[in-house]
Amino acid sequence: RAALPLAGKKVVVTAGGTIERIDPVRYITNDSSGKMGFAVAKAAQELGADVTLIVARTQVDPPVQINAVHVESAVEMYEAVSARWRETDILVKAAAVADYRPKSPAQHKIKKSGDELQLELVKNIDILQTLGEQKTTQFLIGFAAETDHLEQYAKDKLKRKNCDLLVANDVTQTGAGFGTDTNIVNIYDAAGLVQSLPMITKEEAGLRIMELAAERLAGAGK
Ligand code: PMT
Repeated sequence: RAALPLAGKKVVVTAGGTIERIDPVRYITNDSSGKMGFAVAKAAQELGADVTLIVARTQVDPPVQINAVHVESAVEMYEAVSARWRETDILVKAAAVADYRPKSPAQHKIKKSGDELQLELVKNIDILQTLGEQKTTQFLIGFAAETDHLEQYAKDKLKRKNCDLLVANDVTQTGAGFGTDTNIVNIYDAAGLVQSLPMITKEEAGLRIMELAAERLAGAGK
């Protein structure tokens, strides 16, 4: 029987939404359920890869059969991903990472006082872009969650973050994006649109994405 297409490959997948602390009991996060990242991780494992999931806040549990590392913030996610970076063959960044975090998280619960409260935010590291700049042999798959200008923003992110593939979802479409069991994605590479997938389950989309990655890796002789 032929070897599985991703046998011997180390795949790292990020999933969920990061948590950025305001104080010990409050935080900023987003609607990512983790489903898309988990589906990608399962697909990679089915195709024979050695998979590690880097999991932020999610609404469903990670698949039990996959090695999962739990993190909270974008900074922690960056540390977990970069610690594995040198051995990584494929990195898939399905997680929704906060672009900003509170500048000075309070040590104690913030007490109610005046009518207004200013929360100062500072920019988080862009994990994908930082690793994209350091890319050597790794195959990098980014995601883009957009509400408008899907193609333009997706192509821009692909280039800026030095991705090999970019999976774009219009999160305003019914059956696509955050929380749903299905997704509608367009996959781009540096030359343009590669695949436009109809509404399918996140499991099916995950498999299509990882099959394409496996093909590209094999084509590059990796
Ligand atoms: O988890 P689900 O409920 O199943 O929802 C799936 C999803 C909508 C979260 C997923 O399909 C998706 O689109 N994930 C990416 C969400 C996102 O943060 O997109 P973005 O356009 O803001 O970021 C672009 C890329 O850069 C992403 O790969 C992101 O992981 C990465 N990024 C962003 C900011 C940052 N500071 N560091 C990053 O690495």
